[in-house]
Amino acid sequence: MILAPSILTADFLHLGEIIETINRSEADWLHLDVMDGVFVPNLSFGFPVLKQIAKVMEKPMDAHLMIVEPQKFITQFRDLGVQVLTVHYEACAHLHGIIMKIKEAGMKAGVALNPHTPVELLTDVLDELDMVLIMSVNPGFGGQKFIPRTVDKVRRLKAMIDQKKLQTLIEVDGGINLETGKQMTDAGAEVLVVGNTIFNENNPEEMIRKMKSVL
Ligand code: DX5
Ligand code: ZN
Repeated sequence: MILAPSILTADFLHLGEIIETINRSEADWLHLDVMDGVFVPNLSFGFPVLKQIAKVMEKPMDAHLMIVEPQKFITQFRDLGVQVLTVHYEACAHLHGIIMKIKEAGMKAGVALNPHTPVELLTDVLDELDMVLIMSVNPGFGGQKFIPRTVDKVRRLKAMIDQKKLQTLIEVDGGINLETGKQMTDAGAEVLVVGNTIFNENNPEEMIRKMKSVL
C-alpha cells in the first residue's frame, strides 16, 4: 500500500514543519491538491507555494489537478519534479491527448473520477493509464464524509485492470481513515490519499505509521 498524505487541511502557517514531518515519516508520496475555483468550488494553492514545497520534499509528488484546461500546465508540473500527474475525466474533452502529453513530458499519467462518473467510461483509455484516482467524496474540500458506494467502483475497476492484465494503480481520495481505508484496500486500491485523519492528530507521524502497519 502506498500512503500519500494530502496537506490540504494542514496548518499552512507551519508548512515547512509539515513537509519535514512527511519526509521523516513512513509516508510514500506527497499528494498535492490543486484547485481553480471553476472545476471545484474552492481555491487551494498554486506554483509559488508548490515551488517551495518541491525544494524540500524528498518523496515523490503526486499532483491532483482539480482544474479546467489542465493541459496548460503540464510542463510546469514536470519542471517542479512532479512524478504522477492526475487530471479529472470530467474536466477534459480531449482526455486521450492530454494523457499522451503527460507521458511525453516524462510523468506518470493519472485520471480522476468524480463519485458520479462510472469506471466503465475509462474502457478505451485504461491501457494508457499509470493510475486511476477514484474520488470517495466530491472534490473541493478536505474533511468530508466517505461515500460508501465508491467501494464498488474500486472493485469494478480492479476487475477491469486485472482482466486486461494491466499494472494500473488505483488511488482513492476523500474521507479515508483506518476503517474506510481497509474497505478500499480490500476492494483493490493500492494508493490511499489521507488528509484529516493524519493532520487532525497531535502526532501525524504516528498516525502515518499506524496506517502503514494496519492497511
Ligand atoms: C478533496 C481532495 C482530497 C482531500 C482529502 O478534493 O482531493 O485530497 O484533501 O482530505 P480528507 O482525507 O480529509 O478527506
Ligand atoms: Zn486529492
